[in-house]
Amino acid sequence: MTAESTRPRTGFLGKGPTYQDLLDQDSKPVPASLRRDEPGYYGSDDVPVERYLSREWHEREKVGLWSRVWQFACREEVLAEVGDTAVYDIVDKSYLLVRTEPGAGGIKAYVNACLHRGRALRDGPGRVDELLCSFHGFCWSLSGKLKRVPSAWDFPQVKPDEFRLPEVRVGTWGGFVFLNPDRDCEPLEAFLGDLDPFFERWPLEQRYTRVHVSKVIRTNWKVAQEAFMESFHVITTHPQLLPGFGDANSQYDVFGNVSRAISPRGVPSPYLPWDPTEQERLNSQIDQRLDDPPMLEVPDGRTARQTLAEAARTSLRPVIGEGAEQLSDAELVDSYYFTVFPNMHPWGGYNQITYRWRPNGDDHESCLMEVFLLSPFKGERPAPSPELRLGPDEPWRSAVEQLGSLARVFDQDEFNLEAVQKGLKAMSKPGLSFGVYQESKIRHFHALYDAWLPPGG
Ligand code: FES
Ligand SMILES: [Fe+2]
Repeated sequence: MTAESTRPRTGFLGKGPTYQDLLDQDSKPVPASLRRDEPGYYGSDDVPVERYLSREWHEREKVGLWSRVWQFACREEVLAEVGDTAVYDIVDKSYLLVRTEPGAGGIKAYVNACLHRGRALRDGPGRVDELLCSFHGFCWSLSGKLKRVPSAWDFPQVKPDEFRLPEVRVGTWGGFVFLNPDRDCEPLEAFLGDLDPFFERWPLEQRYTRVHVSKVIRTNWKVAQEAFMESFHVITTHPQLLPGFGDANSQYDVFGNVSRAISPRGVPSPYLPWDPTEQERLNSQIDQRLDDPPMLEVPDGRTARQTLAEAARTSLRPVIGEGAEQLSDAELVDSYYFTVFPNMHPWGGYNQITYRWRPNGDDHESCLMEVFLLSPFKGERPAPSPELRLGPDEPWRSAVEQLGSLARVFDQDEFNLEAVQKGLKAMSKPGLSFGVYQESKIRHFHALYDAWLPPGG
């Protein structure tokens, strides 16, 4: 069987347009990256349940994945000025990111531990002149050189040259700072492959962090992450979206370490048992996109997609100027959900969302889900929003001021998550049976996961 033969080329049961059909109807030329239609085929085998549940797999991830893979550590704007710092924790490791010089290449990442008796050098972000340990006062320069040792006479063994802060590798893409603890890793550019052309028209480095909300969820990080990696669940989990969301007509692609889901908006789900009007299609979507939704009416002879596109173009015009005129309807309306292995999920277009999931510290049974809303701006870059951290029992609704109607959607998503973790433990079947096409982003993740953590390895 080939990928081609498994692909529902005409949409679900022949109902509704494929994504490529919709692009043919666009009022503007669409970028070549949207014309790429490259499904991944990973067979139909089950994925072992054990990798979501066992401590052993968590320990294997620590050694085989988190200590070797490129990972999104923080936004570059957090490190705007020399002396700005950020802390990135992953499982039982902690890294300290520091802006040491202005411009490209001026960011370093250190193991976040004092070389005296191990206190974490910093507990969180902030601007400093030097890296001073708050336990006994050992101090390093921003560039990692030992500066001061209190009672130096008592430490004859401390040779300044040998007491530099250990560094890990750093790279940047799209205004995101990545780090890799493996000094022998491939360059970030090679790891990301041809991600750049996809974001050429939606440059994420020209955004600021308008919102950063995180939340502890009581599931393995992969359970939570995978709940967002397909549009198949929308049919049951977010039924309010169906009049204007082409869930089962989504397109799924893979490109090296990157995957993409494209879900059309303004067209009905093939599963919807009635035919919504253009106004009903629009109404189901409108509050998902705009912060302060005006009452939008579909003019006579226009479609929901065209109306959504024009509204988005109008709101973007004052911010990005002429660029708004170049954008196709598709880029202004549809959902482009990219995944960069293993855990970073930047959305394309002007959708603004980026997600990240990771274990909650060293706990394999809970995770941290983070939502960044990255907004375009005009003039001086606004200060990035600090993180708002929600506990496991605080609903996303408590951040409705930051997240708008997304808060409701996330609560709907989270409703399933602890129940999945519970069910996985109770399950007598040894594997999960992902769909071949609609869940191919998840299968792609597991194919890479298997390569990084080979069975028996
Ligand atoms: S642990 Fe840092 S100075 Fe003692
Ligand atoms: Fe969802």
